[in-house]
Amino acid sequence: MTDPANSAGGVSAGTTYNLVFVPGDGIGPEVIAAGRRVLEAAGRLHDFDFRWHEILIGGVAIDAYGVPMRDEDLAACAAADAVYFGAIGDPKYDDPKAKVRPEQALLALRKGLGLYANLRPVSVQPVLRASSPVRESLLEGVDMMIVRELTGGLYFGKPSEQRDTPAGREVVDTLAYTEHEIRRVVKLAFELARGRRKKLASVDKANVLSSSRLWRTIVEEVKVDYPDVTVEHRLVDSCAMSLIQQPAVFDVIVTENLFGDILSDEASVLAGSLGMLPSASIGERHTNYGLHGLYEPIHGSAPYIAGQDVANPIATILSGAMLLRWSLGQDAAADAIERAVTAALTGGYRTPDLLVAGNADGLSPVGTQAMGDAVMAALEAAVGGVAQEEPVR
Ligand code: IPM
Ligand code: MG
Repeated sequence: MTDPANSAGGVSAGTTYNLVFVPGDGIGPEVIAAGRRVLEAAGRLHDFDFRWHEILIGGVAIDAYGVPMRDEDLAACAAADAVYFGAIGDPKYDDPKAKVRPEQALLALRKGLGLYANLRPVSVQPVLRASSPVRESLLEGVDMMIVRELTGGLYFGKPSEQRDTPAGREVVDTLAYTEHEIRRVVKLAFELARGRRKKLASVDKANVLSSSRLWRTIVEEVKVDYPDVTVEHRLVDSCAMSLIQQPAVFDVIVTENLFGDILSDEASVLAGSLGMLPSASIGERHTNYGLHGLYEPIHGSAPYIAGQDVANPIATILSGAMLLRWSLGQDAAADAIERAVTAALTGGYRTPDLLVAGNADGLSPVGTQAMGDAVMAALEAAVGGVAQEEPVR
């Protein structure tokens, strides 16, 4: 708890937020540990703290309980002020015939919490321009927000199954959207564009898909309320090309679930590594402090490097900053974390994914925990004092 003696003249008593954290599988536990330490440090410096509740979701939950997520754990996520999520997925559940898979839990969590919009900001730290395979001159000014619809489309449409027929096996997935589902995420994207460079690219495949044609129609309807925002409709294939050819032209991108999944991994190449990109998943529900939400790096569980202290924790740390901003209204602390990440990178700290061809000349190669330490040190240095660290669990 915050010591009341520390709050200036009793004006701010400090708040204790209830956060659920989900370490998950693979590198999830390592990156989430680094992220929690940074959030704790930000809390110490900005006069708030956390009550943490750990839950098992994903492969670890299948191992422990036989299901990827228990109902009571979904309820705990709903009851918390926000959910801080590592990564899930384990090759031992990759068998195409497996009845339960870790990823089912993440989809059920997104759906169960009504988190229809996934915000994936993409920017390029100037000191990391050389880490991207994209020519440096193209990376200047890259600053976009990908708004991915998260609870509809091919991920959730029914039927989704394989069938045996006299002619052999057949399979179906369904891309379904209601007007309401499209409209709410499109409106959110317009709102975000309004607060930025006022440019919206709506990405679809309207030359082929009916779902995209309704999507386009609704964007046209919603845009009447946003005359200050310039909208363009882009076909997903050509947009994928432009993301590499002219990445700096994009401001806000809004698109359906699977297109957003693919385009955001592609866009991470601009940032130098998949390990750099955070995300916020939000819906309509508010808590006492902000929007209820789930915050996770866009990368997966990377089982091949799990347990080796080499994963880049920055995507998770930046997801923590988004959590502070969107769910807790702690904008100053969020800004401070983002500045601290920039400072750690400028100071030369690099996890292996950020080293170009392993070249560490003049840089400080670090592992997951040491990168977390570097960000914490930068955070503390910025306020000119060293916050007393308490052990996390
Ligand atoms: C992501 C991931 C997930 C998705 C997987 C793990 C189910 O790729 O968050 O982008 O496809 O949504
Ligand atoms: Mg993905």
